[in-house]
Amino acid sequence: MQLDVFTLVPHAFAWLTEQRPLASVLGGELDLRLFNYRDFTPLRAGEVDDDPYGGGAGMVLRVDAVAAALDAVYGGRPTHRVVALTPQGRQLTQEVVEELALEERLTLLSARYEGFDERIVEHLCTDSISIGPYVLSNGDLPAMVMVDAIARRLPGALSEGSGELESFSADLEGKLEYPHYTRPAEFRGWPVPDVLLSGDHARIERWRKEHVR
Ligand SMILES: C[S@@+](CC[C@H](N)C(=O)[O-])C[C@H]1O[C@@H](n2cnc3c(N)ncnc32)[C@H](O)[C@@H]1O
Repeated sequence: MQLDVFTLVPHAFAWLTEQRPLASVLGGELDLRLFNYRDFTPLRAGEVDDDPYGGGAGMVLRVDAVAAALDAVYGGRPTHRVVALTPQGRQLTQEVVEELALEERLTLLSARYEGFDERIVEHLCTDSISIGPYVLSNGDLPAMVMVDAIARRLPGALSEGSGELESFSADLEGKLEYPHYTRPAEFRGWPVPDVLLSGDHARIERWRKEHVR
C-alpha cells in the first residue's frame, strides 16, 4: 500500500516509523510518504494558511496551498481516496480501518488551528474522518493513529494469528477481547484464574470464549 500523509510537521512521524509493527511493513507492504504543504505552496514566504473570511480567531488551511501540493505529487487530482482528518468526519472504527487497509493507495490530509477551508474537504477529498468526538490541536496525531491502525492490518505486520483474535475483529464478532495474564501466578493475593494454569487447552479456549466482552 502507498500511504501518503500531507502535514506541516513530517518530522513528527519519525518516532512512529521506528515502532513495530509499522517498522516491520515499511519498505515492504507499506510505502509511507510524508509531504510538507510548505514545500509546494505557491505563496511567497511559504504561507499555507490565512485568516477566516467573516472574521474570528485562528487560521484556516488554504485550498490553493493544498491543491498545489496534491497537483505536484500526483500530477493533478488523485484518482485514489483522499481523506481529510477533521472532527466533522465519519467516525473511525475498526470496520473503517479494515476498509481502508484494502486500498492500494491512500492519502491523509492533516490540518491545524481552525482547520481546512471547506473547499478542500468538498472538492479535493473523497472522505473525511474523525478519530473520535473530541478536538485535538492538529491532524497529525489522528494521521498517526490511522497510519498505525492501517499498518497493523497489512500482511506481515503481526506474527501469525495475533491480528485475527483482537478486540473489534470479525473473529470476536466485533466484541472486546478476553483478559490476559502473565507471571507471577499470584501477586499481592491477586491470583490468575486457575483454568489458565491448567494446561487444558479445551477448557482455556472455553474460558476465553466466555470472557469475550
Ligand atoms: C483545532 S482542530 C480544528 C477544530 C475545528 N475548528 C472544530 O471546531 O471542529 C485542528 C485540526 O486538527 C485535526 N483534528 C482535531 N481533532 C480531530 C479529530 N477528532 N479527528 C480528526 N482530526 C482532528 C483536524 O485536522 C483539524 O482541522
